[in-house]
Amino acid sequence: MSMRNEEARDYVKIRAYNKETDLEKVLDLERNCEVGSKKRPILVTDCLGDPLCRVRNSPLYHMLVAESGKDLVGVVCGSIKVATIGSSLESRAKLGYILGLRVPTCHRRRGIGRRLVLAMEQWFCYNQVDYAYMATEKSNEASIKLFTYKLNYTKFRTPRILVNPVGHKPERLDPNVAITRLEIGQAKSLYTRHMSSLEFFPQDIDQVLSNKLCLGTWVACRHGESWLNASNWAMLSVWNCPYRIRVARLPFVCLFRAKILRHLERLIPCFKGIGIPNIFSFFRFYIIYGAHMVGPEAAPLMQALCEHVHNMAVKQKGYRIVLAEVGGDDGIRYFIPHRRDLSFSSDIWCVKDLRKGERESFDWNTMPPSTSIFLDPREF
Ligand SMILES: CC(C)(COP(=O)(O)OP(=O)(O)OC[C@H]1O[C@@H](n2cnc3c(N)ncnc32)[C@H](O)[C@@H]1OP(=O)(O)O)[C@@H](O)C(=O)NCCC(=O)NCCS
Repeated sequence: MSMRNEEARDYVKIRAYNKETDLEKVLDLERNCEVGSKKRPILVTDCLGDPLCRVRNSPLYHMLVAESGKDLVGVVCGSIKVATIGSSLESRAKLGYILGLRVPTCHRRRGIGRRLVLAMEQWFCYNQVDYAYMATEKSNEASIKLFTYKLNYTKFRTPRILVNPVGHKPERLDPNVAITRLEIGQAKSLYTRHMSSLEFFPQDIDQVLSNKLCLGTWVACRHGESWLNASNWAMLSVWNCPYRIRVARLPFVCLFRAKILRHLERLIPCFKGIGIPNIFSFFRFYIIYGAHMVGPEAAPLMQALCEHVHNMAVKQKGYRIVLAEVGGDDGIRYFIPHRRDLSFSSDIWCVKDLRKGERESFDWNTMPPSTSIFLDPREF
């Protein structure tokens, strides 16, 4: 390689994403980028031709690329929203979420990931963001070290992801439960009344509820009662995730076992609940968010709502799981049906105060975790 070529290779420019010139390269990078540890199964994402699909539903978003000569050697997305950060309504802050950071294997450890994140933080600061945060897998050593050692992020929250496979047939719903779909205005007022003090609750909840990916909000109460004054009721909303995923890097034996169990489950009714859905080729999924219950007898109501969502997914082709993300210690997980063997609590969120020293006293990093957090489906 001539001196000039080497210099060009070493010079890495960070700039805004340009759809005209970068689309194909970014899709390529996403397809071929190895994420996570080599020894563990990983999630592969297919953004269905739209690399901005994980941020474009947020109020403000941005994508940066790293360019070396003609090559694209890194990419990162960011989104900004105003959300609750403490237990009172006044504790609101501008939050910047960092996601989709990718550097191809052959360009790693050259400082590109760090520069991309710093450039995204600059964009956050330009937009008066108070805190930046990101989510990664506990086992993703590269990502955790980059953010905590090199970029001063603090490990912060550890949500759980609950996974319920979509079966072949609809579940039979409890005839004593009445399920009502809410108008957006009704849903917004329930969210504002019951969830606006939760960490990460977005100020623009109406934009979430009226987004075309939000399939609706449902409440359940006992038949014969009205949800408006029932003493036991439950609610949730459903988000249609705009991309596909699949699980990769599973040993052949596991794949084979999964296939056998799936067949057994289909053929013999008493094996119901043991099969692993085909999550090894790309599939779509629904996300349950805003799950909330009131009253001592609300558990079967939440169960009925989740079964209702399952039945919605059964009718769709290619939808193989229904997923819910809840706070690490949130007791609601006991009432959302899920398969323990498919669910995981391996996510870790890290946060960084971007205006340290500028604000008076509130230091979110050091606040003890609240049990419930609002999981914004736009950021999944
Ligand atoms: C995580 C990732 C973006 C890092 O990109 P990168 O350009 O290699 O990172 P940098 O060169 O800026 O690394 C900065 C620091 O991060 C840490 N780091 C990066 N990769 C590491 C690794 N594999 N193991 C341990 N520490 C690592 C080191 O502290 C490193 O500093 P050093 O090289 O001086 O020791 C890259 O490994 C990647 O694309 N991984 C797959 C996608 C992914 O996991 N994204 C993160 C999801 S949030």
